[in-house]
Amino acid sequence: MRYLVTGAAGFIGSHLCERLLAMGHDVTGIDCFVPYYPRPIKERNLVEAAKNPRYRFHELDLRSADLKPALDGVDVIFHLAAMPGLVASWTEFDLYQSCNLTATQRLLEAIKGNKNLKRFVYGSTSSVYGKFASGDETLPTKPVSPYGVTKLAGEHLAKAHLEIFGTPVVVLRFFSVYGPRQRPDMAYNIFIRSLIADTPITVYGDGQQVRGNTFVADCVEAIIASANAQLGETFNIGGGEMVSVIDVMAKLERIAGKKFTVKTEPARIGDQRHTFADTTKLRRQLNWEPKTTLDDGLAKQFEWQRTNP
Ligand SMILES: NC(=O)c1ccc[n+]([C@@H]2O[C@H](COP(=O)([O-])OP(=O)(O)OC[C@H]3O[C@@H](n4cnc5c(N)ncnc54)[C@H](O)[C@@H]3O)[C@@H](O)[C@H]2O)c1
Repeated sequence: MRYLVTGAAGFIGSHLCERLLAMGHDVTGIDCFVPYYPRPIKERNLVEAAKNPRYRFHELDLRSADLKPALDGVDVIFHLAAMPGLVASWTEFDLYQSCNLTATQRLLEAIKGNKNLKRFVYGSTSSVYGKFASGDETLPTKPVSPYGVTKLAGEHLAKAHLEIFGTPVVVLRFFSVYGPRQRPDMAYNIFIRSLIADTPITVYGDGQQVRGNTFVADCVEAIIASANAQLGETFNIGGGEMVSVIDVMAKLERIAGKKFTVKTEPARIGDQRHTFADTTKLRRQLNWEPKTTLDDGLAKQFEWQRTNP
């Protein structure tokens, strides 16, 4: 099988490529190194996969490049390329709109009518649910950020291609993924950096916000399993443990053997209060179970950040 992973130099995409290669598959990666965070971090994400002769990498911008050559012989597409993050989406709207929508539409156009393609898996987000993202896939979608709006529009676009052109679409909604290589703008990465460097952290709101966290290796297993999902299905992907920001900070303090210096700020516009994925559908239909406890996952991320400053 040949898998195409877009966003291959990113956090989740780079882990996905490595896992597929380890399973003996051929993998094509696409990324254009959007400077949302520094290119050297993304280049480092690619190092392991690039050692494998079954890996091809194309530095391509999905918004403008000719995509046909990279799609040659591809059986399954995992479309993870996007502009992530809530806050910047208010000020960088065009970038979010183009990377999350135009790029998705161009990729869908490039595979239109491809009879060999088995699945087009669209990586979406719990942000499509909005402030109260706790429950199963039937929760109302009420995004409260341009990021969530563009990702939800991407879901609809993909499903329109399924409806009209028969593109074999499956949608996955990820809930707060963490682990080694986590994006530097994400909370746990920031917390761990501050602990290591002994600098203060800012906690937005009262710290009682609850998150359902997903360890990246568990997320990757769910993504791979989704290549066998029924067409048109949407799945939540989330780990089994629900934890508040304050609880995570206590766990990290235990792992690091030192205390945070904390500054507090009011909650940010569009921040979710509670997120927790009901993953019953994923477990039942795709036989998936998260394997990594939050304690183990945080320890792995801490160790990675300590050794990759
Ligand atoms: N990390 C999470 O917790 C999380 C949660 C919910 C959803 N997601 C979704 O998962 C996917 C991956 O997220 P991530 O955390 O790995 O982000 P990331 O920023 O690390 O990876 C995304 C990659 O996509 C690339 N990209 C963006 N626009 C592109 C374009 N036009 N052409 C080619 N490449 C482009 C970027 O350069 C980047 O390397 C995204 O679709 C995101 O919306 C992630």
